[in-house]
Amino acid sequence: MTRIRAAITGVGGYVPEYILTNQELETMVDTSDEWITTRTGIKERRILKGENQGVSVLGIAAVKDMLAKTGTDPKEIDCVIFATVTADMTFPATANIVASAVGATNAFSFDMGAACSGFLYGLSAGASYIQSGMYKKVVVIGGDKMSAIMDYSDRTTCIIFGDGAGCVLLEPTTEEVGVMDSILKSDGAGEAYLHMKAGGSRMPASHETVDKRQHFVYQEGSAVFKFAVTNMADVSAQLATRNNLNADNINWLVPHQANKRIIDATAQRVGITEDKVMMNIERYGNTTAGTIPLLLWDYEKQLKKGDNLLLAAFGGGFTWGAVYVKWAYNS
Ligand code: UT7
Repeated sequence: MTRIRAAITGVGGYVPEYILTNQELETMVDTSDEWITTRTGIKERRILKGENQGVSVLGIAAVKDMLAKTGTDPKEIDCVIFATVTADMTFPATANIVASAVGATNAFSFDMGAACSGFLYGLSAGASYIQSGMYKKVVVIGGDKMSAIMDYSDRTTCIIFGDGAGCVLLEPTTEEVGVMDSILKSDGAGEAYLHMKAGGSRMPASHETVDKRQHFVYQEGSAVFKFAVTNMADVSAQLATRNNLNADNINWLVPHQANKRIIDATAQRVGITEDKVMMNIERYGNTTAGTIPLLLWDYEKQLKKGDNLLLAAFGGGFTWGAVYVKWAYNS
């Protein structure tokens, strides 16, 4: 029997207009453009401003962009998966809101919470739906409105994160392209180093949680950094080895944009030179689940059918993983 693979057949993206520069951050916390640039590689990030503007705004714009570019009828979409940790509300799922807003009225939809690795988890799940033969069009969105959970008086976190979303369309193919292989991992011991204390069922919102500033990202940066460098590089090397991928036949490394130093370490481990590493951290910062689809969106025109892409991420949970994608089209 012919094997069905899940091909990425379209990409969409959206970043909000407002640009928060390192210079503006210098007026908010005790930091400097020089420190942020050398320690993270970030120059600016985008922020979604305005009342009642949730992450769905970013997801809807990204999906509309993809639908327009691919000429897809939203009624034909079977499933919408939204990877995010900044859902509009605890429930309903933001994916439900996005699906309705874009006219995907025949789709089932749900959110995926795996922090910075969320898009890779969603991509893997969506690809499995396609490979099963049950579904023909799956949209996977990764995006976050990190500014909603950022303490802009905490210089160790607020300089890193930004807002944005990207998405891909997955469709079946019998060609040797698409999502080829993946390794996904998680370790709940990571909770101690990266979490948001309040607002969930363990510690619901109260005056006290607000007073104690517990509705913001808590991150022990240098500890997370060490786990990220080791695990993202390990899993990338493991996936490369088992698919006979190496410096010569990997066309692009597509790494989660958390810190340029983590990206450089991963590239070095897999032996990939900088010209083959997708990078936009200097413009968008860390958009959590948004970084990888936003890279695909930014680099889409440079991708050719048959290119080997190694996607890799590490984030809260801890969660981490790598996905091997063979690009399916020329733009
Ligand atoms: O995306 C998912 C997961 N997240 C990550 O992967 C993030 C991983 N972590 C990181 O990217 C880095 O750890 C940070 C960018 C968060 C911090 O960089 P670092 O090189 O690990 O700095 P550090 O936390 O070890 O702090 C070094 C120094 C400290 O000062 P002292 O104690 O040496 O005097 C900090 O107080 O830098 C200071 N510092 C700052 N200085 C100026 C921390 N943040 C800032 C800042 N501006 N914004």
